[in-house]
Amino acid sequence: MPEFTININGKDHVVDVLEDTPLLWVIRDELQMKGTKFGCGKALCGACTVHFNGNATRSCSFPVSASVGGKITTIEGLSDNGDHPVQKAWMEHNVPQCGYCQPGQMMSAAALLNANPSPTDADIDAGMAGNLCRCGTYTRIKAAIHTAAK
Ligand code: FES
Repeated sequence: MPEFTININGKDHVVDVLEDTPLLWVIRDELQMKGTKFGCGKALCGACTVHFNGNATRSCSFPVSASVGGKITTIEGLSDNGDHPVQKAWMEHNVPQCGYCQPGQMMSAAALLNANPSPTDADIDAGMAGNLCRCGTYTRIKAAIHTAAK
């Protein structure tokens, strides 16, 4: 199998996988970083969201070959000590219920705030539309994003 060098959270990793292997499987199964979740596998739920060159990206539908040369950030790399403004706001608002979708929610929220530091409710609705939460934490997510934006 071909080897690919991919940069995750500032560190290069060499992986030996088929070129169309989804980045999510490389992150979880090859590199044992379990913070990024599998939900639908079809780019529909957002549970697998990571950043690719700063943009929210569905890693379940992003081939590893496309990630070579770029910068990938996972929830493990969002901050050093869980002190990213989004993570702190998530704790302040007790956002998670079951928690499964929340790494993806936080990665999308962080990307949204990078692109738009003062989002309106409508901006948040649009920016977070691809992230589903079966527990219905959307109201707390919105409040936390406003807090993180301050
Ligand atoms: Fe990737 Fe649902 S698992 S969007």
